[in-house]
Amino acid sequence: MTSKQDLDFATLFRPGIRATRAYTPGKPIEEVQRELGLESVVKLASNENPEGPLPAVLEAVTEAAQQLNRYPDAACHTLTHKLAEHLDVTPESIILGNGSNEVIDILIRALVSPGENVIYSERSFIVYGLTTCAHFECGRPVALGDDDRHDLPAMAAAVNDKTKLVIVCNPNNPTGTYNTAEEFTALLEALPARVIVAVDEAYYEYVTASDYPQVLPLMKAHPNLVVLRTFSKIHSLAGLRVGFGVGHPALIGELHKTREPFNVNMLAQVAAMACLENWHEVAGRRDRNRAELDRLAADLAELGLDVVPSQTNFILVRSEGPAAELSQELLKLGVIVRPMAAFGMDERALRISVGTRPENERCLVALKEILGR
Ligand SMILES: Cc1ncc(COP(=O)(O)O)c(C=O)c1O
Repeated sequence: MTSKQDLDFATLFRPGIRATRAYTPGKPIEEVQRELGLESVVKLASNENPEGPLPAVLEAVTEAAQQLNRYPDAACHTLTHKLAEHLDVTPESIILGNGSNEVIDILIRALVSPGENVIYSERSFIVYGLTTCAHFECGRPVALGDDDRHDLPAMAAAVNDKTKLVIVCNPNNPTGTYNTAEEFTALLEALPARVIVAVDEAYYEYVTASDYPQVLPLMKAHPNLVVLRTFSKIHSLAGLRVGFGVGHPALIGELHKTREPFNVNMLAQVAAMACLENWHEVAGRRDRNRAELDRLAADLAELGLDVVPSQTNFILVRSEGPAAELSQELLKLGVIVRPMAAFGMDERALRISVGTRPENERCLVALKEILGR
């Protein structure tokens, strides 16, 4: 018999868990500063909004903090109703989560039994692969198209009688590309009603393309559709963790059964409400991002990098050499970006989040220095 000291704990867990690698986040600023002895560091690695939360959000959070001895509202009643009004859907169509990440996790865990599968695109948001791997290894990734966009016909063709869920990341992280309304509608029409289609719209508010699909109105004709959005990106609440799913009330009702009772914390709930009350701020945030994105894209192209057109708050570029080396060199100069091999991308792919003008400038100056050597 194995002694207690020799026990290999990994053998106790489900095979899918053993095969799963833990998520590696972008390095925190403080860690890089400490490790490299740098005075200042800019982080362009996690697609965060460089503009802080709105003053109204900070005020609401500060006031609510007085109540931290109490549990949050388990039903997120006020936020759900405000959001329903904002989206013109019923409150029963909404599930809030500890980030939209949690809603993805709930969807997969609640829907998929052993032997069933989830279709998503390769070189897309890393969490689909991690979550499906941990849940009966149910993920069936389909190759991304050569144009760095989801190949929706290939995804439809990959669906079989064991498919429970198709996840479309639109716009896609880490490529910044999108699928058009026409392409998306064709996917919905190609799929049977028993297959749930989740559209991850984490970057929805940043999109400026006129042929991007407006998905919520499609729910009437396609009740198997679920939309996922978040307050982490344009609303600058990444640190608080609040996102949501919208879908048919009967489907959302099933998801509610599997979520933790207090899954959205009190401060996140009041902060999200303050964002909804100040929705008029979104257009300015989108326009400022677009202006910086266009400028950064043009300057990166000028430096000889291949730039993938983006509808988000980040840009995927390809360098001549390995992106891991380039990002290491950038790190030494105090600029954190993400090489994309961990997302299954090619070795040359590097993702740069759009920062403030000075942050982007610093990244460009550092790149110029490295590439000019
Ligand atoms: C495509 C996509 N979906 C979901 C998320 C997760 O968002 P949240 O912070 O709401 O969990 C991210 C975050 O980077 C993302 O890029």
